[in-house]
Amino acid sequence: MSAPPAPSSPSVLSPAGMEAAALSELSWVLFIGAAVIFVGVMVLLGWTLRRGPRRAVPNAWWVVGGGLVFPVTVLSALLLYSTARTAGLERTLAQPPLVVTVTGRLWWWEVRYRDPAGGPDVVLANELRLPVGRATQLGLTADELIHSLWVPELGGKRDLVPGRVNHLVVTPRRAGVFRGQCAEYCGLQHAKMALHVVALPQAEFESWLARQARPASTTPPAQPAAAEATLAARGRAAFVAQGCAACHSVRGHAEGAPRGPDLTHVGGRLYLGAGALPNEAGAFKRWLVGVQDIKPGARMPDYAHLDAATLDALAAYLEQLR
Ligand code: CUA
Repeated sequence: MSAPPAPSSPSVLSPAGMEAAALSELSWVLFIGAAVIFVGVMVLLGWTLRRGPRRAVPNAWWVVGGGLVFPVTVLSALLLYSTARTAGLERTLAQPPLVVTVTGRLWWWEVRYRDPAGGPDVVLANELRLPVGRATQLGLTADELIHSLWVPELGGKRDLVPGRVNHLVVTPRRAGVFRGQCAEYCGLQHAKMALHVVALPQAEFESWLARQARPASTTPPAQPAAAEATLAARGRAAFVAQGCAACHSVRGHAEGAPRGPDLTHVGGRLYLGAGALPNEAGAFKRWLVGVQDIKPGARMPDYAHLDAATLDALAAYLEQLR
């Protein structure tokens, strides 16, 4: 597949969501306000020092005005403003939000959508696709350790804690790919625990979700032109023979224990290994052979002991799971 679109470099200075815009506005008000007050105090200090030591003792008005009235006024105004501005983020949403559950695992993200057609949940990993202009309520939880989700362009951080569900509402305002990161130290591969958020126009999002809800495509091995299809069919058999399904599900092909990421449509994802490797040509083979070099300590072992033909077949199989 072609190289995935590069995510914009994560920055709180270029908000792409309603919630991030509110936080950004709040930060600028605080920053500019603090800068103005700092400069004002420095000017007063300079003025006082220039007047010389004999007149350095201020009169009572300065003490009461500058030391009491001014800070109380400024801090009260800020309290009212920030309360009002952030209360807006928690307000009852006008239309029912899209609900997506994100579970922090070691060291990847399980992402779970309700099937709009009423089927079983749509499960994927490390990629969160959201519609532009609609609020999404993320239900955040974890299986073993505390993680924290932070997508700077879309909103603030929120912890994922085992045994409880925290909520975070995000409303993307423009389409794009935004990199999120685990923001709570969670062990060896904390740094390689990225989540990519792809914001799509509503219609595109709906057709994407409908495709994700389908089971994996069946490779037609009988097609004459399809040497690739034959290779993929051999890979599918190897996937089962090598016991990959002990940890990974490919819906419709092999229903595995949900220990590792669901791979039903893994070929269409932007990255492998929670942002560890762009999903470009050859990526699956590199991952299979070198997981422990690319992401040391990951719970998946290397498969470097497999012969080249089996590796090629497995990679071809995974690649066509779009
Ligand atoms: Cu998960 Cu840090």
